[in-house]
Amino acid sequence: MDHFLYRNGVLHAEDVAIPDIAAAVGTPFYAYSAATLTRHYHLFTEALSPLPHMVCFAIKSLSNVAVLKLLGDLGAGMDVVSGGEYRRARAAGVPGERIVFSGVGKTREEMRLALTGGIRQFNVESEPEMRALSEVAVSLGVVAPITVRVNPDVDARTHEKIATGKKENKFGIPIARASEVYAEAARLPGIEVIGIDVHIGSQLTELEPFEQAYLKVADLTRRLRSEGHDIRRLDLGGGLGIPYTRSNEAPPLPTDYGALIKRTVGDLGCEVEIEPGRLISGNAGLLVAGVIYVKNGEGRDFLILDAAMNDLVRPSMYGAHHDIVPVVEAPAASPTHAYDVVGPVCETGDTFAKAREMPLVAEGDLVAFRSAGAYGAVMASEYNTRPLVPEVLVKGDHFAVIRERPSFDEILNRDTIPAWL
Ligand code: LLP
Repeated sequence: MDHFLYRNGVLHAEDVAIPDIAAAVGTPFYAYSAATLTRHYHLFTEALSPLPHMVCFAIKSLSNVAVLKLLGDLGAGMDVVSGGEYRRARAAGVPGERIVFSGVGKTREEMRLALTGGIRQFNVESEPEMRALSEVAVSLGVVAPITVRVNPDVDARTHEKIATGKKENKFGIPIARASEVYAEAARLPGIEVIGIDVHIGSQLTELEPFEQAYLKVADLTRRLRSEGHDIRRLDLGGGLGIPYTRSNEAPPLPTDYGALIKRTVGDLGCEVEIEPGRLISGNAGLLVAGVIYVKNGEGRDFLILDAAMNDLVRPSMYGAHHDIVPVVEAPAASPTHAYDVVGPVCETGDTFAKAREMPLVAEGDLVAFRSAGAYGAVMASEYNTRPLVPEVLVKGDHFAVIRERPSFDEILNRDTIPAWL
């Protein structure tokens, strides 16, 4: 459930009418609902209780500092994958002891940043990374708490670009080599092994792959304990999928996911961490766009929006579906029409949907992409020198711009012409 509903025929974000935001901010823009973010975070904390746990929001899905502050104030931890994301979490007031650092390519500089600023744990993904971390920690005179990310070789049955738990993927160490890697970790100075990490992919719409992975983690916990390691924390990653269409999709609920976690690893006496991104942020955000033109083509009609692939890349990158709805609701039983929904960017890949049946829309109308809160604004670019799309946070009857649209002066001033030209 989200908080984007029609009231008197007009789409609202909580108690704010979307056209009011459009009038103040211009289009396109992202709008997030504070109530939806809050609700989704609580679904996870409730699903994991009474296990000792921490829900670490995957910042990569939506990294605006205002959103991080909202979640951080609720008690959320943060999963970061870069020094930039670490800085965002800290800027939002999240203490280091609630930040976990994931990712295959952490640099020594990023390690230093987190070790000096405070860190809950590093999820280490390879032996070279582990050795580098040991060196950096020793040079700073501190001890780095780590889990090792294991690759359980499980098919997450999701889009190939976002599956991470198969042996051919670049993530983690093969689970079969875990004993060897943990033995080396135990010998390295400046490192303290505290647990195991796993993450098998994103937008999983079945629980079974999670179950396979978590059962392997449970076995590994027992084995590593018998080999003398004090495994006390399990980071079970993110990845629970969301419905992208209103109709037939019904991915598992956080409660079912929580029950699965309790069933598979609940008896180990470990603290459990999860790293959900999409389920918290995805359906908490809309991308709102204006219709520039309706163009009659050869056997098809194009809806040309002022949003483009640079603002929301998921359809062109993954062939992803987003529901696109008119902001002013069409009266019941009004006719629909099939549109190719496109943006102004000069490439054919700038297509959001083909032959999408929608109520009739006209030049100047507003439309909204649903489920755009996750991997929307964060993946935006300024391709075609289109300014980064602004972000708005709604709470009850308030809204605030939480990231401004940059002016063209700001954009152009980032470039410099060398004196010798
Ligand atoms: N933890 C780790 C280590 C991850 O790599 C990811 C996502 C997550 C947690 C959060 O997964 P989530 O709960 O959001 O599924 N850009 C793609 C998604 C990429 C996901 C990358 N990793 C998309 O738009 O579908």
